[in-house]
Amino acid sequence: MQASTSTETNPLTIAVLGCGARGRTYSKIAASLNGRYRITAAADLVEARRNTVAGFAEPGTVRTFSSAEEFFAAGKLADVLIIGTQDAHHYGHAVSALNAGYDLLLEKPAAETLERCEELDALARSLGRRIALGFVLRYTPFYSAVKAFVDSGKLGRVMTMRLSEGVDAFHQAHSYVRGHWGNTAKSSPMIVAKCSHDTDLICWLTGSSPRSISSYGKLDWFKEENAPQGAPARCTDGCPAAADCLYDAHRYLKESRSWLRMVMDGYETADDEKILDFLRTSPWGRCVYRCDNDAVDHQILSTEMENGVTATLTMTAFDCNRTIEVHGTLGSLRGGEPWQDAGAPELWFRDHRTGTVEAVPVLEASAEGYAGHGGGDFGLANALDTLMRGPNAIAPGLDGLAGHRLAYLAEKSRLNGGIPEVIS
Ligand SMILES: NC(=O)c1ccc[n+]([C@@H]2O[C@H](COP(=O)([O-])OP(=O)(O)OC[C@H]3O[C@@H](n4cnc5c(N)ncnc54)[C@H](O)[C@@H]3O)[C@@H](O)[C@H]2O)c1
Repeated sequence: MQASTSTETNPLTIAVLGCGARGRTYSKIAASLNGRYRITAAADLVEARRNTVAGFAEPGTVRTFSSAEEFFAAGKLADVLIIGTQDAHHYGHAVSALNAGYDLLLEKPAAETLERCEELDALARSLGRRIALGFVLRYTPFYSAVKAFVDSGKLGRVMTMRLSEGVDAFHQAHSYVRGHWGNTAKSSPMIVAKCSHDTDLICWLTGSSPRSISSYGKLDWFKEENAPQGAPARCTDGCPAAADCLYDAHRYLKESRSWLRMVMDGYETADDEKILDFLRTSPWGRCVYRCDNDAVDHQILSTEMENGVTATLTMTAFDCNRTIEVHGTLGSLRGGEPWQDAGAPELWFRDHRTGTVEAVPVLEASAEGYAGHGGGDFGLANALDTLMRGPNAIAPGLDGLAGHRLAYLAEKSRLNGGIPEVIS
């Protein structure tokens, strides 16, 4: 974990635009960090959400706003603006914020096209402003250990890496079929919305940018043709296949209840009847085979980086959690998150010279407040002040542009039947 350079007498002030799941998460953690951060403003269309964020600070110290326009009209209210609005709003909100003088913690994806990501980078550079992205995996104990090991040189010269991202079938249905990212025209392609974390890891771990990229993938399962016979448009309308369906929305009343915390206002106090009402009217009660989704349920990409390292990524709805292998001339690193609730992530090093295999220590995700996204939510909020000021601050510009480039060009290649995208 990076040491903080801020002090209780000089907290980093933060404003939050978009007080939904992400805005709330970062600001709650920041507020818990012993005076290193001070929340000064919270803006959201939904009153309860902006009040929740304001509630993390001393009463009466946070200005609240009911829209982005109202917030920006008030001028610069903090050192850093956390932008936690939805994908399609990021670019516009980021441009306004940069022009208002904010450094940013911007949720990924930075913008809905690569060109717009590049524009944000150029604007931030010209204004001397920093944009950190919500690439929380970099700040997890697990990937911090991977990065430290790769950088230690113990693997020799890194030749290739292999990553996998198992989304999990119910998670896929919740977020990328029924949910915010199912329809890519309204959000971002899967390889950007979900896997820009992984494409960022490839660039961050190799310390390089992509030179050539190709990708294949498609939506195969969550389609009308796979709907059980007689399935209605909503699970709540009495589906004959409900008992055997992995995606029956009634699961939200039981084992999958906690998924609703991110999408249902008042979830914490809702009883079963309230949840059923929500399922009858919201996108999350829809039959997963009869949605307006076009996000792929499996995709692979391969890339050669500017420094010659090659990497592959497999994303699938039908696995759970991430794995990684990094292969070098002296040794290999292999590890990942276990399947759901099966223990802590494990990381192993094989020394090619001796053939010995040893466990690489990884800090427990539950240690020192780590929680959420394998500890990455805490890790990023905890690192925010050092990212924004002091000797380890990121350079002006969009930190993480290379990973976005890899993701967007992978999507372009996929749409072109896998024809490589070569960056000249
Ligand atoms: N880094 C990660 O691992 C990670 C994980 C999940 C989501 N995300 C990204 O984070 C972003 C937010 O996701 P979320 O799940 O928190 O979404 P959310 O829908 O819970 O929150 C978005 C909030 O923005 C508010 N909002 C929308 N338009 C607004 C406007 N004009 N002015 C003020 N407020 C406005 C909404 O009312 C809502 O409360 C998305 O872009 C998503 O892709 C990142």
